[in-house]
Amino acid sequence: MALQGKYALITGSSRGIGRGIALKLAERGVNVAVHYHTQAESARETLAQVHAQGVKGISIQADVTRPDDINRMFDRLKREFGRLDIFVSNARPELAAFYQPPMDITLDQWNAALDSQAQAFLLSAQAASPLMPDSGGRIIAISYSPSGRTGSWQPWVAMGAAKAAQDALVRYFAVALGRRGITVNVISPGATDDSVVGRLPAEVFQAIKSWHESGWTPMRRMGTPADVGNAVSLLCMDEASFITG
Ligand SMILES: NC(=O)c1ccc[n+]([C@@H]2O[C@H](COP(=O)([O-])OP(=O)(O)OC[C@H]3O[C@@H](n4cnc5c(N)ncnc54)[C@H](OP(=O)(O)O)[C@@H]3O)[C@@H](O)[C@H]2O)c1
Repeated sequence: MALQGKYALITGSSRGIGRGIALKLAERGVNVAVHYHTQAESARETLAQVHAQGVKGISIQADVTRPDDINRMFDRLKREFGRLDIFVSNARPELAAFYQPPMDITLDQWNAALDSQAQAFLLSAQAASPLMPDSGGRIIAISYSPSGRTGSWQPWVAMGAAKAAQDALVRYFAVALGRRGITVNVISPGATDDSVVGRLPAEVFQAIKSWHESGWTPMRRMGTPADVGNAVSLLCMDEASFITG
């Protein structure tokens, strides 16, 4: 897969799905900027694994709910890498920051969800695209599409709305950036091992895992961060240049 020498930034790649994406891209020769919020040690571990693939790597701290931090993140990227080919918007705050049903949610919790997804994607896509070459750029948002579809998962109201807004933004940016040969897409994983799901109470995690193994997914297993990394890699191939929106 001809991705050697490209440059990528993956938000929230200190751990979980973001780490899986960073490692799969590094494995394919992509130079990677590992982004984190508070867990510097996890980011260092990801970065060490990136370097072990023989590619360039840096780590960048930023709170993606803060516009100034997003600007600082892209300024640093420009200074260190000088260009960007792949941007993956993956970071998401801990459940405690936003997990409340509609009648109880506070404005701060609502903002944590919307700012980390919709606002962060808007500002990041605006900042990332000028650093991309005129053909071959890739912007990918990690979503959870079922989350806002039915309203049944009540405490997910803010994140469901935030992911839906981000999904809509992806379509608008796909049109805006299509003329420059930059594709903009969403990947919507199901419950993924070795991520936030693994931090649920053990019995809840086991119930989700068993459900997947009993046939909820055709593969009879949960997906992994590496599976999502492979999906990102496929969308980054030259042959995916007509897949957008
Ligand atoms: N896990 C699943 O089953 C699943 C399913 C579908 C979709 N998704 C989506 O996949 C993405 C990753 O999920 P995950 O489970 O891998 O997450 P995770 O393990 O909880 O990791 C979250 C990442 O986001 C970073 N982060 C948290 N708050 C932030 C903030 N305010 N500003 C910047 N970065 C921040 C964290 O940095 P620190 O390490 O520094 O805290 C970490 O790198 C999310 O968008 C999620 O909605 C997940």
